[in-house]
Amino acid sequence: MVLALQSSKFPRAKSGVPGYDELGGGGFHKGTVNTVTGSSGTGKTVFACQFINYGIKIGEKGMIITPSESAEYLKREMMSSFDWDFDKLEKEGKLAIVDVTDPVLRLQKSIDIDPTDFLINFRKLVERKLADVKPDRLFIDDLTAFFMAVEAPFKVRSLTDDLFGIIRASGVTSLVTIGTAFGTNQFLEYGADSATMLSRERIGNTLIRSIYIMKMRGSKIANSIRVLDITDDGISVSSLSPYS
Ligand SMILES: Nc1ncnc2c1ncn2[C@@H]1O[C@H](COP(=O)(O)OP(=O)(O)O)[C@@H](O)[C@H]1O
Ligand SMILES: [Mg+2]
Repeated sequence: MVLALQSSKFPRAKSGVPGYDELGGGGFHKGTVNTVTGSSGTGKTVFACQFINYGIKIGEKGMIITPSESAEYLKREMMSSFDWDFDKLEKEGKLAIVDVTDPVLRLQKSIDIDPTDFLINFRKLVERKLADVKPDRLFIDDLTAFFMAVEAPFKVRSLTDDLFGIIRASGVTSLVTIGTAFGTNQFLEYGADSATMLSRERIGNTLIRSIYIMKMRGSKIANSIRVLDITDDGISVSSLSPYS
């Protein structure tokens, strides 16, 4: 009874990643900010694109913001790897892709502009786009570069809180991917409602993809590392541990 009450009061958004939701109480809480952390090539972008693609399949609207690579590149990658046709979904109005690479990177290379200003402008852009598009699901790909340049940790904290605050206020369920360089990931994870970690484990001569949920507010989490598989069908979580 209590459980039923709780689940209707705090609805979940299914990730669309087979095997993942069971690790964290049934999926992401709707309206929350969730981070996916890992070094390069661990599957962050694939994980989040699958979350968006699944949402669209069940009738939800998606939005992707690409601060670190061009929208064209992302679309081509997802089409060639998994046959996910983001171009078509965009044209059908089911998906909005906001490509901020050009203007932002040009600004970032300039030494005259304070990185804090970028983040404030970025937050305003996100706020405006969320108000325009009103998506159910949001994916911001690789925020690391934005925060790396901010030197004072307290500033990183407050900029993270501001950005995550406006995302939550819109009601969208979001995934934010972050790299592990320079330790900025910890500040972002701290401010998020859940944090999922992707990596590769070395077992003998073999590298095995792995995943675990580090935290999920308001949910019981499985305290175990699982094998992560990427195939032509996308990403999935195995019931096996890399060490078993
Ligand atoms: N069809 C596929 N089958 C198996 N692995 C794939 C397939 N498509 C892409 N990959 C792998 O998925 C990984 C891409 O992960 P990605 O999400 O881009 O990483 P990140 O965003 O963490 O840098 C690469 O290691 C790539 O080799
Ligand atoms: Mg990526």
